[in-house]
Amino acid sequence: MSSEPFDHGYYSRFYESDRSRVHGASEVASLCTAVTAMMQWWGVPLASALDVGAGVGLWRDWFSAHRPQVAYRSVEVSRYACAKYGHERRDITKWRAQTSFDLVICQGVLPYLDDASCERAIGNLAAMTGGVLYLEAITRRDMKRVVDAKRTDMSVFGRTAAWYRQRLRVHYTEVGCGLWAKKDAGLLFYDLERSPRVRASARASRSTVTRGSQV
Ligand SMILES: C[S@@+](CC[C@H](N)C(=O)[O-])C[C@H]1O[C@@H](n2cnc3c(N)ncnc32)[C@H](O)[C@@H]1O
Repeated sequence: MSSEPFDHGYYSRFYESDRSRVHGASEVASLCTAVTAMMQWWGVPLASALDVGAGVGLWRDWFSAHRPQVAYRSVEVSRYACAKYGHERRDITKWRAQTSFDLVICQGVLPYLDDASCERAIGNLAAMTGGVLYLEAITRRDMKRVVDAKRTDMSVFGRTAAWYRQRLRVHYTEVGCGLWAKKDAGLLFYDLERSPRVRASARASRSTVTRGSQV
């Protein structure tokens, strides 16, 4: 067995087999269409995109087919994925580019990181986001109630949504459906497009309850 967790067996089980994969090109095509359409609706320019933990490269393939004019960069910690699917080898807990990107994608990566690494990754993602972040990170609740455990890698850190929100809201406005607008990007949203702001007192009590929680 490989000493690297993200190896041939991992991608073949969760991405390349119809029977056990979590999602494939057609599901991701719907997501890419939705994310880029919402950015267009909000008037956010989309000239550059960064995919962090790009896996088999489903977003990259969609962008090259449907938005070839976007300067697209994909990074991965897995040596195997970099060699097989053609990404730059980067660890998001330790790396940030010197430039920012109109869209940063981080799908399914953060739950693999322990609390301290995840906090560093969120800081790096925020530093590189010029406009919008698309984030998917399953929570402890999702693991109990939402995901199909047969098609999902359950060997991850199951944190609460509050844990993520507390850290993401330092940098971003939550717009919903996994979209987070960088606070300093100057984007305007209708009141009901955004999640309600969290009061300082609510934030304080949540942090006490949820800090350091893992499954
Ligand atoms: C669940 S897969 C998601 C792949 C792809 N984003 C998708 O949704 O199709 C998680 C990916 O995160 C990558 N990953 C894990 N830790 C990482 C890190 N510290 N930096 C960059 N990528 C990482 C893994 O190698 C793996 O390919």
